[in-house]
Amino acid sequence: MKNRMSRLIRPDTGGSVMLAVDHGYFLGPTTGLEKVGWAVKDLVPHADALALTRGVLRHDINPGWDVPIILRVSGGTSILNEELLHEGITASMKDAVRLNVSGVAFSICVGAKFERTTILGLSQVVDEAEEHGIPTLAVIAIGKDMVRDARYLALAGRIAAEHGARIVKTYYCEPDFGKVVDTCPVPIVIAGGKKLPEMEALEMAYKAMEGGAVGVDMGRNIFQSENPVAMIKAVREVVHKGATGKEAFEAFQQLKSQA
Ligand code: 5RP
Repeated sequence: MKNRMSRLIRPDTGGSVMLAVDHGYFLGPTTGLEKVGWAVKDLVPHADALALTRGVLRHDINPGWDVPIILRVSGGTSILNEELLHEGITASMKDAVRLNVSGVAFSICVGAKFERTTILGLSQVVDEAEEHGIPTLAVIAIGKDMVRDARYLALAGRIAAEHGARIVKTYYCEPDFGKVVDTCPVPIVIAGGKKLPEMEALEMAYKAMEGGAVGVDMGRNIFQSENPVAMIKAVREVVHKGATGKEAFEAFQQLKSQA
C-alpha cells in the first residue's frame, strides 16, 4: 500500500499531477480524447499518474510506458441518463491486479437519491482493493441541485474518507476550500472541471494547493489546452515547485513559444 501510495503522491514533493483521461466512460468521445493513446503520448512523461478505464488501458496505452495507473472501476450511466453518476462497480479487483494498477477510482454521489448505492459500492471496492494493497481514490460528486460549496464538498469528502478512500478527488470551491481539506483525514486532489483559460486553471490549481490539496487529477484543462504539454508542465510548476498561478502562466507562455 505504501509503495503504491508513493507511486501516486511523490514522496519528494508531497504532490501529484494526475492526468485524467477517463471521460469516455460516461461522455463518449470527448473533445481532445478522440484517440486517447495519441492524445496522451507526449503528456505521459510529465504525469505522475494516468487515470483511465481498462478498455483504454488495454487498447490505447503502451504497456512499456512507466506511468502509474489509476483504474476507473465505477460507471454504468451515461451523460444521456438523468441519473448520471448512479454508478456501480464496472471492473473486478482481479482485473485491476492483472493490469498492475497503482490505484482504483470510484465515484460517489452524495445528496442524490441513489447516494446509498454509490457509497456501498465504494465500500465494496475499498474492501477488495485493501486486500491487495491497492489505494482507492474516491471521486466525489454532489446531488445535481446542490451547490458545490465548502459545506457540501466537505461533507462528501469526509464521507468518502470514512468509508476507506485513501485519496479524495473533489472540486475546488470558494470560499473555504481549506475547510474541505482540513476536515478530510486523507489527501485531496482537485479535478479541473470544464475548460478554462489557462491562467484561470493555473490560478485555481495554485489556490487549491494553498488550501492544502496535494495536487490535481486534471483532464480537460490539460488535454484541451491550446498547448497540452506546456500546460501540464505549468501545472507541475504549481504542484511540485510552489509556483503561483501567475508564475506558472508565464512558464506556460514561455513553453508555448518554444514549441
Ligand atoms: C468524472 C471524472 C473525470 O474524469 C474527471 O473529473 C475529469 O477531470 P476534469 O474535470 O479535470 O476534466 O473523474 O467523474
